[in-house]
Order: sequence, then structure tokens, then C-alpha cells
Amino acid sequence: MGSSQEIFEKYHIDEELGFALPKPLEELPPPYDEWISIAKNLPELIEKNKLRERVDQLQIHSIDGLKDHKSQRLAHLTLGYITMAYVWNQGDKDVREVLPKNIAVPYCELSEKLGLPPILVYADCVLANWKKKDPNGPMTYENMDVLFWFPGGDCCKGFFLVSLLVEIAAASAIKVIPDLFKAVTNEDQNALQKALRYIASSLQQARKEFEKIHKYVDPNTFYNVLRIYLSGWKNSSKLPKGLKYEGFSDTPREYAGGSAAQSSIFQCFDVLLGIQQQSGEESAARFLQEMRKYMPPTHRKFLLSLESGPSVREFVLSKGDTELRADYNECVKAMVSLRNYHLEIVRKYIVDPSCQQANKGTGGTDLMTFLKSVRDTTKSFKLEK
Ligand code: HEM
Repeated sequence: MGSSQEIFEKYHIDEELGFALPKPLEELPPPYDEWISIAKNLPELIEKNKLRERVDQLQIHSIDGLKDHKSQRLAHLTLGYITMAYVWNQGDKDVREVLPKNIAVPYCELSEKLGLPPILVYADCVLANWKKKDPNGPMTYENMDVLFWFPGGDCCKGFFLVSLLVEIAAASAIKVIPDLFKAVTNEDQNALQKALRYIASSLQQARKEFEKIHKYVDPNTFYNVLRIYLSGWKNSSKLPKGLKYEGFSDTPREYAGGSAAQSSIFQCFDVLLGIQQQSGEESAARFLQEMRKYMPPTHRKFLLSLESGPSVREFVLSKGDTELRADYNECVKAMVSLRNYHLEIVRKYIVDPSCQQANKGTGGTDLMTFLKSVRDTTKSFKLEK
């Protein structure tokens, strides 16, 4: 691994924003502005039951005019929103199993180009779906907005922006990763302690950002409205065979819905701290590995590159130093605390509103058991004093 500057460039990571796309584009030139205009008016089109009609009337556009990465990311985000709206429309009562070719073809071609699946992913709706109201102002909730909305009022803005703020707070620690590896290689305990303390404090900051969810996201709207639009078509009772992308593939395809489980940031610190989730069939490790397919390829590669770095945990163990262990443990504790807090949120936003219904997450796992196992495994990596 090279300097911070080298890793940032190579893996599309921003020094300040981590995996989030810096200054996402907001507009596309003709003919793609047609997609933007539909995506911008989604809630209204859905409410008037005009969305599917508008999509059916679209012309097929070649994606050749989308030259740069930011235009492609904006187009992927836009087509993702339109696709989710087309499939689910006014809820989950009248779903479509076929995405018409005028949108399916450009969407699938673009997805192949970007190495992302043709469904709305976290890298779209969180990492590339934001702007500052005052461009010179701070990255605070008050000074930020999302680019596109689903029905459900401010719920969508709250969920996406709070996720982004959690992500960015934790991401500030990415810049110390080269120092961390260098410290292990050079057996420089002081430098390692400094890097670990920085990581722990960034993770603690991320945990604080999480609290904003209560202020900005209403549990019932999340459960009954937004969760539906983020649902995918993998192991789905509504689309048991998946979605057929007309003009692109003869057989339906299955993809998981948008979830912050597709964020690279938690996985990044699991790898760095040597926290290995349980493996085997139907395991947490397998699910999280699967989620990597929903991340931009450069971020996926970044996680792989971390896996081949020197082991921080082994080094801490071998030193047998109480202070060093305590600093390592602070990082593990911060990860446990984030996951504990997340569990409470999932209880409030999914389990409680669902009452007697089956507890399925947007990604379709048996969520509380899964999330508790991830939390407990994380905890088990704390070192004895
Ligand atoms: C209303 C708020 C939230 C709800 C209801 C929620 C729900 C869920 C659910 C159901 C899962 C299980 C996997 C799946 O079904 O996709 C999951 C996993 C996950 N979520 Fe969230 N989530 C929320 C907010 C967040 C935020 C803000 C973050 C961080 C940016 C986050 C990070 C994760 C991660 C990393 C996983 C994978 C498991 C792990 O590594 O601990 N979630 N979430």
C-alpha cells in the first residue's frame, strides 16, 4: 500500500468524504435530461398514477454520450430510482415483473460499464445522491439535500443523508490506514497507537451521527413507504422469479434491495481490525461478501487490498503490551457500539412497525438473528487485558 494520496486516487476514495462521491453532478445533457425530469418528479408521478405511462413512452437512449464517471453515476442513480418506482409504483400491491426495454437496455449497459448491478444500490442513493445547499457551507444535515425523492416526504432525505453522515464520519479514519500498516511493518508501537486512537474516535463520531435518525426519519413512514421502494427482487415473495430486463436478458434476474449493508465502511474496519465474521453456508461472512458485489468495483478492490495488508491484530497480540491492547480494544468497542446502536434502530424502524409480520430486511435476511450474530462476533474479537 502506498501513501494516502496514492490509495485515494487508485481506489476512488476522497480524503474528506471516504467512499462518498465528491460533489455529485445534478444534471445531464439531452437526451438524458428526460430521465432526470422523471426522477425529479417521482413522488408526484406516482401519486397521479402516471409514472409507468411516462416510462413506457421513453425513447431508448444509447449510453455512449455518458462519457465521464460522474455522469455515469448520476445516470445510474436516476435509472435506479425510476426502476424502483416502475416495479413498485404505489406500494407492493401491483408490481411489475418486466422492466420495459426503453429503460432496461440503457440501464443494464450502464450497469455493466460501472460494474454495478441494475438495481438502486447504496452507492447510488446514499453515496451519489447529495448536494450542499450553500456550496461554501459545511457538510451538515441543515446545509444538505438529496437530489431525488421517493414518496414519503422527508423520510427519504432523512434516511439517505443520515447514512451519508455516519459514513463520512467513519471515513475520516481512512487516511490513517497507510500509517497503520507502516507502523506494523516498522514495529513502531507509538505510531500504531496514534493511528488506532484516531480510528476509535472517528468510529465514536460515526455512532453520534447515527442518533440523527430519530430526528429525521419517522418509523412508520420508513416501514410502510420507503422500505418498499428500496426492496429488491432476490428471494422476494412479490417477484419470486426476479425481474426481467426486457431486451437485455431472456430470463429474469434476482438482485437484493438497497441497504447500508452495501456500505464499504464497516467492512473496511472489520478487515483492518482483523474481525472475521462467521463463515459457512447462510453465514454473515457470506452475506457481507455478497454485498460487496453491490459496491463500486474500486471500493471492492480496496477491501481486497486491505485483506492482503499486514495484520494489526497479530501485531498487537504479539507485543503483549497493555496500553496497545487497550487502544486496539477501543476500536473493537466502537464497532460493537455502532452495531448495538444499529440493532436498536432496526428494532424501532422494522421489527416494531412490522408487529406480527415476518421480519425481513430490505436485503432479505432474517435480520435480527443475523445482526446480533455480527455484533456478537465483533465483540468476541476484544482482547483480554
Ligand atoms: C432506519 C435505519 C436503518 C435500518 C432500518 C437498517 C436496517 C438494516 C437491515 C435490515 C440490515 C440487514 C441486512 C439487510 O437486510 O440488508 C442492515 C444491515 C446493515 N446496516 Fe443498516 N439500517 C439502517 C441504517 C443504517 C445506517 C445509517 C448504516 C451506516 C451507514 C447502516 C449500516 C449497516 C451495515 C454495515 C449492515 C451490515 C451488517 C453489519 O456489518 O453490521 N444501517 N441494516
